[in-house]
Amino acid sequence: MPSIKDSKCILIIGSTAGLGRALALSILALPSKPTVIVCGRRQERLDELVEAHGTDGRLKGFKLDVLADRASLKASVADVVQQYPGLDAVMFMSGIQHEYDFTEPESVDLDKVVDELNTNYLSVINMITFFLPHLIKVGKAGQPSFIYTVTSGLAVVPGPWVPNYCATKAALHSLSLTLNAQLKDQNVHVVEILPPLVESELHDHQGKREVLSKIWMPLDEFTALTMQELKSNDVQIPIGSSAKDYETFETGKLDAVNKLYEGRKAATQRK
Ligand SMILES: NC(=O)c1ccc[n+]([C@@H]2O[C@H](COP(=O)([O-])OP(=O)(O)OC[C@H]3O[C@@H](n4cnc5c(N)ncnc54)[C@H](OP(=O)(O)O)[C@@H]3O)[C@@H](O)[C@H]2O)c1
Repeated sequence: MPSIKDSKCILIIGSTAGLGRALALSILALPSKPTVIVCGRRQERLDELVEAHGTDGRLKGFKLDVLADRASLKASVADVVQQYPGLDAVMFMSGIQHEYDFTEPESVDLDKVVDELNTNYLSVINMITFFLPHLIKVGKAGQPSFIYTVTSGLAVVPGPWVPNYCATKAALHSLSLTLNAQLKDQNVHVVEILPPLVESELHDHQGKREVLSKIWMPLDEFTALTMQELKSNDVQIPIGSSAKDYETFETGKLDAVNKLYEGRKAATQRK
């Protein structure tokens, strides 16, 4: 199977900080010299990145709020494809996380629940749908194309302090499995990254940086491990502690999904 080494132009949505920023810079440093488009809401972060690392013109910035309405998202996807017709990979990294305590139901902020679902899942399925005509066209023309989703070990074993986050990541995990089955004959490769707890800005608004910094995986370590796996043939990439949970609870699932899909296709063709 083709891998990140084959990508010539990758858009990383959610790369102004944390895991996305670090992976963007590592992908930029690949010997294959891809164009890397960094993306997020904060224009000043995009400018800083391009100014500091974009010396040979391969690092570009694209401003996007994934919480924009569906028509605006569709227009942004069309815009990025028009600007970068060689785009062959999109990584969906943008994500947010909130804590909720259902023992105090009145404290559960349902507006935050909606934002979290929209950011972590609905915007992703919308954008995947909008990018796919282009990615399928690229795949059919003989250049492999890629969709990278970013879920979490918490998609496999939910952390009860962040219940909605885990539900959104479980939804994206399920979607990744089924897109993988549906798209692999189109030369569109769907790869899911399942990070463990990693150093980033994700938990800063919860005031948890000091506590979590004692147990999280350092960002450099996460980036090195993930880059190594992205160069392999694996379509599911659990890192660190996520790998243990993945092995315990997910072993055989990918094959089962593929088998189910093949069986269904065969049965439909027989009719
Ligand atoms: N860190 C961990 O422990 C961990 C563990 C498992 C999974 N993950 C997942 O890894 C991904 C990256 O998280 P991180 O830890 O690197 O968090 P982070 O440091 O907070 O970075 C989040 C990124 O998402 C972008 N983003 C958030 N809302 C957005 C929006 N509405 N529109 C566009 N971009 C948006 C942010 O950019 P702007 O603010 O500039 O828009 C930023 O670039 C997330 O999907 C997260 O769920 C993280």
